[in-house]
Amino acid sequence: MNDSRGAVSRRLFVSGVFAALGAAPVVGPMDGPAVAAAAPRGSVLRARPGTVVLDGRTLSTWMYDDRLPGPLIRATAGRTVRVRLVNELPAPTTVHWHGIRITPKMDGAPGLSQRPTPPGGTFDYVFTVPDPGTYFYHSHVGMQSDRGLYGALVVADPREPLGYDQEFTVVLDDWQDGVKGTPEDAERRMSATSHDKGLSSPLLGGVAGHMRYPYYLVNGHTANEPRTFHSRPGARVRFRVINAAADTAFRVALGGHRMTVTHTDGFPCKHVTVDAFVLGMGERYDFVTTLGEGAFPLMAMAEGKSGRAFAVVRTSRGARRPSPDGTVPELNRQMLKYQDLEARRADQLPQPSRTVTVTFGLRKRPGGDEWTLNGHGADDPLRLRVERGETIRIVMHNDTHMWHPMHLHGHTFQVRTTDRGGPRKDTVNIKPRERMKIDVHADNPGEWMFHCHNLFHQEQGMMGTLGYGRPPRRKHDMGH
Ligand code: C2O
Ligand code: CU
Repeated sequence: MNDSRGAVSRRLFVSGVFAALGAAPVVGPMDGPAVAAAAPRGSVLRARPGTVVLDGRTLSTWMYDDRLPGPLIRATAGRTVRVRLVNELPAPTTVHWHGIRITPKMDGAPGLSQRPTPPGGTFDYVFTVPDPGTYFYHSHVGMQSDRGLYGALVVADPREPLGYDQEFTVVLDDWQDGVKGTPEDAERRMSATSHDKGLSSPLLGGVAGHMRYPYYLVNGHTANEPRTFHSRPGARVRFRVINAAADTAFRVALGGHRMTVTHTDGFPCKHVTVDAFVLGMGERYDFVTTLGEGAFPLMAMAEGKSGRAFAVVRTSRGARRPSPDGTVPELNRQMLKYQDLEARRADQLPQPSRTVTVTFGLRKRPGGDEWTLNGHGADDPLRLRVERGETIRIVMHNDTHMWHPMHLHGHTFQVRTTDRGGPRKDTVNIKPRERMKIDVHADNPGEWMFHCHNLFHQEQGMMGTLGYGRPPRRKHDMGH
């Protein structure tokens, strides 16, 4: 590697040539309480065109099972998930199971782990879910997940150690589809150099995103026609918050409550109580709180943008519904930081030896319109080759003016906020000029996508692979 920022050990191979390799879950209602067994609806997922009504406006889009979000899929750790994708879209598609330590062939990475399923085709996703936690699924073809092709995946722990009375799954999204054309139209209009200079956020260290979206949603609902989560005063409730947006980080708070964060991207962490957190695209936090009596705003501000996703948590019939335009003071109080987060002792990865460190920059091509990993874009993706069984330290340096939520398929890595530890995550936000260390244990052989979860960046080159365990078989593209 002839790049000054690249420091690659003897056992790591970074190539400029991308040689790619090529118990049924219960599907239930979105917000049902954890104790109520959701009625089995089978295990078929139909991807197809449909319409959603947002604030009285009927918009054409693509969804799973005519629902927004797609059906909540409940599985149990250690068990097998079987989902048959039926593609009734006019385009090829795949389903990616974000955050699951999955077998490579089931990962839904187009051109890498599977050929996209053509219109009229089906694909059987069959895999075991090793770890409990909060995950989600989405199409991994082009800009499709910026339509309605996403849903929550909740993996239950048969020996759940966390005590709570009820749980709610909260899926956040930024919505443009059908308003001014499709997400693909938006992507074509946009080059890497174009972003709205007004969209800046101190919390994200610079430019927050590329565009203001016309709508921000909680479980498919706008702020004006909010979703209501019903509970009772004194209930200890677990919230599973998922950011399924394409270009929007959300700052989340529950009015009148503090939040005890219990899980980072599905994995348990030492409990930390805060007032608010910022959730990048692809990230999830679980938190528990004991509800007061009344009706409370669950607010998710589109960070650095003007707009908000909003829902209501109600424990009393009579209480007045909070306004989506109201202020939630918790949003500006104690904010969760990565430094506050620490995986459980049992989940801490061993310190890797020096020889398996790789360093690279998150960049933009000078004068061009491509985001890159160390200069490698879509034409020439960064390819990291490591050895099975190793723990690899990846050091990323953000040399751009935007933050990037970097996501690795097939693994949950340890963010090294200190030498001693940090949280386990599969998606980590890296701010401009920030340096981030993550440790990955190479225990799931395959060729894995490693990319920015800003969908525009992903589509404009900020995508590479991490591979080990078997030699590459053939060369083809990653579905750009
Ligand atoms: Cu949710 Cu490759 O991503
Ligand atoms: Cu990015």
